[in-house]
Amino acid sequence: MTNADSISPWHPVARSADVRPGANIVAGFAQGQELALWRSADGAAQAWENRCPHRSVRFTLGRVAQDSLSCAYHGWQYAAGSGQCIGIPAHPGMPPPRNVCAKVFSAVDSAGMLWVNLVSEAPPRPPRDDIVPAGRSFCRTLTARTDAASVRGALARRGFAADAAGMGWHGVLGQADTLALVLDAQPQLAFIHLWADAAPGTNAMTTLHIAARSLRSEIEEERRRPQEAA
Ligand code: FES
Repeated sequence: MTNADSISPWHPVARSADVRPGANIVAGFAQGQELALWRSADGAAQAWENRCPHRSVRFTLGRVAQDSLSCAYHGWQYAAGSGQCIGIPAHPGMPPPRNVCAKVFSAVDSAGMLWVNLVSEAPPRPPRDDIVPAGRSFCRTLTARTDAASVRGALARRGFAADAAGMGWHGVLGQADTLALVLDAQPQLAFIHLWADAAPGTNAMTTLHIAARSLRSEIEEERRRPQEAA
């Protein structure tokens, strides 16, 4: 088994800085699971199935108030951490039903990314902080219309090597030492978060952006070719 085969159950779903404490709700994906990503006022990361348990409206349409998330449709409120329903505005005197609960996944911040684990039993250790080496800057997130395994294969053919945990791919893109964190978002959709030793605003970063766009085109083209030949 290679490192590329031992894929971690932790998925890099978003940049940590893009999800602000007690503020916004960000849509995310991991292995086809649609997610609502948000933070309570103390900054604790939340990753919930993006459906309200009442009538399945997307949580990403709602709003965050301190330590709870309110659904946009009927305003039911759900507590950070547990996902338990804690308020029904139409029935303020009625205790919320105990069995109404958002589906909650494990979520942690590490190395500037928000990671989600979809496996409910005994989550393994979260990614280490040094998975992104010191001195790396975030470049961009590429969206590739292909599966994550094809992305990993394409990176390997370009000389990228997987780290011991099977989470990060290290190689050279443009002229920069680059780390690629590959997210299996949906069956035919992968995200590639790129971190590099190029500083923001420099020519090296510009070159990296150009190389990243070319990489995406090549990966999608490689994916198309065998299908067209079939
Ligand atoms: S659908 Fe969410 S509160 Fe009714």
